[in-house]
Amino acid sequence: MNISLSELDKKRFGVVTAKISFEGDESLADVLTWCAEKKVEFLIARSPTANIHLAQDMEKKGFILTDTLVCYVNAAIKVTARPLPAGFEWRVGGAGDAEVADRLAAQIFKGYGGHYHADARLEQADCDLVYSSWMASSCTDKNLADAVFFVTHESMPVGFLTVKKKNDSSGDIVLNGIHPDFQNRGLYFYLVNLAKQWAIDQNLAQLTVSTQVTNTGVQRIWCRQGFEPSGSFYTFHKWFNQ
Ligand SMILES: CC(C)(COP(=O)(O)OP(=O)(O)OC[C@H]1O[C@@H](n2cnc3c(N)ncnc32)[C@H](O)[C@@H]1OP(=O)(O)O)[C@@H](O)C(=O)NCCC(=O)NCCS
Repeated sequence: MNISLSELDKKRFGVVTAKISFEGDESLADVLTWCAEKKVEFLIARSPTANIHLAQDMEKKGFILTDTLVCYVNAAIKVTARPLPAGFEWRVGGAGDAEVADRLAAQIFKGYGGHYHADARLEQADCDLVYSSWMASSCTDKNLADAVFFVTHESMPVGFLTVKKKNDSSGDIVLNGIHPDFQNRGLYFYLVNLAKQWAIDQNLAQLTVSTQVTNTGVQRIWCRQGFEPSGSFYTFHKWFNQ
């Protein structure tokens, strides 16, 4: 069973939190027993949308739907020649960028439509922190990102994209965004291209990425960059002290 306690979420939200990713043969009853034994107060459950009966069983047990994730893959990676707009540059990030990355992510992801923000029991400001602290840590922790790319304007980062190797043949675009003042200029399109170049340089056969089904803007860009839909997942939250 792919279930574990999340120390990070416990620290942030002040409740014993666990996360499960349903992968096929786990029984919901076993998951609930595990949570009872560990005194879990808040469970975040991800389940394949194809398993509609599991979703219905969770609904019957009081789980609430908090988002639907769509996954894309590019299995024939070709870089797309298109320069950065005038006035912008790009560079690789590092440990010294953690603070600026934290501030930038806070501006980009304020009120973002992810599963944390969708849960009325969580403080919105705490949910914003999920992304800003995750982005800051991505600059320093190789477990979170193998490379961080920034787009800069007058030397200041205005957008970022992080990538992580999943195995010898596949990489993932993890965290990405552009400051609201700099959107709709093709900066994100350029960052996706950098991720594709990174994958080619790493000899990876494919690059994956995912987002909420409602985030149609990024999906349009991924399609233009050769990505195709590959799967989807529901995210449910369960509070045990209701
Ligand atoms: C989604 C997001 C990353 C897109 O970034 P962006 O830099 O605005 O993306 P682009 O500029 O490459 O493309 C956006 C649109 O601008 C258009 N565009 C690109 N260059 C342009 C230009 N010079 N003039 C006008 N429009 C332009 C693109 O064609 C695209 O059009 P579309 O919305 O009709 O498809 C950004 O809105 C964002 O950070 N959102 C919040 C966080 C988020 O959703 N992150 C992704 C999580 S997976």
